[in-house]
Amino acid sequence: MTAAQAAERTSVTALGGARDDAAGRRQPGTPEVRGTAMRTHRCGDPRLADVGQRVTVCGWVAHRRQHGQSLQFLDLRDYSGVVQCVVDGSVDVRPEYVLRVTGTVTERPEGTANPNLDTGEVELRDCVVEVLSVAKPPPFPLDERADNVDEPTRLAYRYLDLRRERMQRNLRARSAALAAMRQALAPLGFIEVETPLLMPSTPEGAREFIVPSRQFPGSFYALPQSPQLFKQLLMVGGVDRYFQFARCLRDEDLRADRQYEFTQLDVEMSFVDQQDVLDVVTAAVLAATEAVTGRPAPPVETITWRDAMDRYGVDKPDLRFGMELVELTALFANSGFKAFAGAPTVKGIRVPGGSATHNRKALDNLTDTAKKLGARGLVWMRVEAGGALVSPVEKFLSEQEKAGIVAATGATQGDLLLLVADEWMTACEVLGQLRNQLGRPAAGEGGFRYVWVVDFPLFVGVDKETGRPKPGHHPFTRPHPDDVNLLESDPLAVRSRAYDLVLNGWELGSGSIRIHESDLQQRIFSLLGITPEEANARFGFFLTPFGYGAPPHGGFAVGIDRLVAILTGEENIREVIAFPKTQSGLDPMTGAPTRVDERQLRELGIRAVAPPPSA
Ligand code: AMO
Repeated sequence: MTAAQAAERTSVTALGGARDDAAGRRQPGTPEVRGTAMRTHRCGDPRLADVGQRVTVCGWVAHRRQHGQSLQFLDLRDYSGVVQCVVDGSVDVRPEYVLRVTGTVTERPEGTANPNLDTGEVELRDCVVEVLSVAKPPPFPLDERADNVDEPTRLAYRYLDLRRERMQRNLRARSAALAAMRQALAPLGFIEVETPLLMPSTPEGAREFIVPSRQFPGSFYALPQSPQLFKQLLMVGGVDRYFQFARCLRDEDLRADRQYEFTQLDVEMSFVDQQDVLDVVTAAVLAATEAVTGRPAPPVETITWRDAMDRYGVDKPDLRFGMELVELTALFANSGFKAFAGAPTVKGIRVPGGSATHNRKALDNLTDTAKKLGARGLVWMRVEAGGALVSPVEKFLSEQEKAGIVAATGATQGDLLLLVADEWMTACEVLGQLRNQLGRPAAGEGGFRYVWVVDFPLFVGVDKETGRPKPGHHPFTRPHPDDVNLLESDPLAVRSRAYDLVLNGWELGSGSIRIHESDLQQRIFSLLGITPEEANARFGFFLTPFGYGAPPHGGFAVGIDRLVAILTGEENIREVIAFPKTQSGLDPMTGAPTRVDERQLRELGIRAVAPPPSA
């Protein structure tokens, strides 16, 4: 499904109180929604039921067609849709002029109805046209053709791009998602609290944006990467249940799912365990899903990190398709094929019907990909009639092993099998990537499959320089209660109370139950090689309050931009942000970032040493 089709599916709850009918057509808005001092209806409102009524609509000229000297057809557009206005004679208007048109709703002559328009069975006749604003010709057509315009141009004229149906739909879907989440949280005792944008620099996480202080030249504020520390202090402050639609700022390389500025639904709760947090966030995202798509999402599954890696080869599994990784290690324990017998793990995936779609070159490419991802190699097998296997390694395998592979993978004639024998993590990761590459549905297809991934490891590997374990999340994440005794003896085996929410293979958010006791926190710092003095210097403002009675607490943050992008079938979060930056971090509309004048810099005690590249 294309983005446009996905969006077509979008409920119009967001479009001013209208709802889709069973056939997916938009229903007109109520008088309260559509009427203002200047109009009685929106462009998308008139219907057969209104025939005979004099109505007034306001909007932009989408198209204009002159029929001889005597008749002009104007398509007038606002966010709700398009209505055709038939104007006697000729008025001097051009595309994107802003008009106010009063006309009589009339049934279109037989054979001229437009099934693609919600207003397509009617038109306005006997029109009085008032020009409210004239307009220069837009730099690109404001319809689906603009999808092919280069992004810097779209963003330079974002205010025009936003007039398009796709962008209006996305912004309204975003608004509907936020409203639904607020509505879901309010009855659960959550209060909305704003936390500061100007805070001290903290050395953890991504690179920060810093803001110079005028009062204290040479000193800087940092913009928050998330409200993490403040929301935990709200718990110390007895707030109990907090949420915020928080703007977060991170100076990291931009991608389809990353912007410098983004929004989180940020949540923190006191006196809870993991399941309490999962339940609340589930309720919020399911409410948002239904508000945007008009349909409930399937129930949210929970899977441990280890199972996610074992079955999908990634910590953000896309459950919209099968092709699960199959465990084959035991089958080859005593194999004559040394590459398999000697490997800690042998796993495989079945690509249904993949034999015919992968010629030798395609198989070589897959092998190259596997090697680039760190595998020693990739074994492919074509499944022929009767479960016979054709493969470069076939001669090394016993009949029993071959039958075992077919049985374990459920392979049938025409399938392709891909096997990796390696360390557990490598085998999982390589097959996980191949699974995604070969089976993943396009954005907007396959429904909305949420999954909680829980029990992430507390540490991810060992720092080569220091020999210390590296934290998987921030150092305030709580170890799994069953594994606390392993902290010093086997830190890499310790699971955490950290969890992610995944939607269609995207990491939608993450959170954890936090450490609230100083002694446990100190143990973690010691493992990380952070002395009490150092901890105090780095996180003092955060740790001191914990000495005054911190409740057990935990929380979560949902990436709103990612959520709305997936729900609207968009592949890039820029499509659901009103004024995003380009991939290189520029705003072609405002010119940001810009230089500031010398006087301003002097006042701040700053001297620019490197001229910007264009200077
Ligand atoms: P984390 O850093 O995992 O957790 O962020 C949570 C979610 O925020 C979104 N996100 C982004 N979206 C767009 N652009 C970005 N640059 C970007 N960075 C992150 C993602 C991500 O999953 N304080 C913790 C949460 C907690 O522990 O409560 C936090 O910020 O969807």
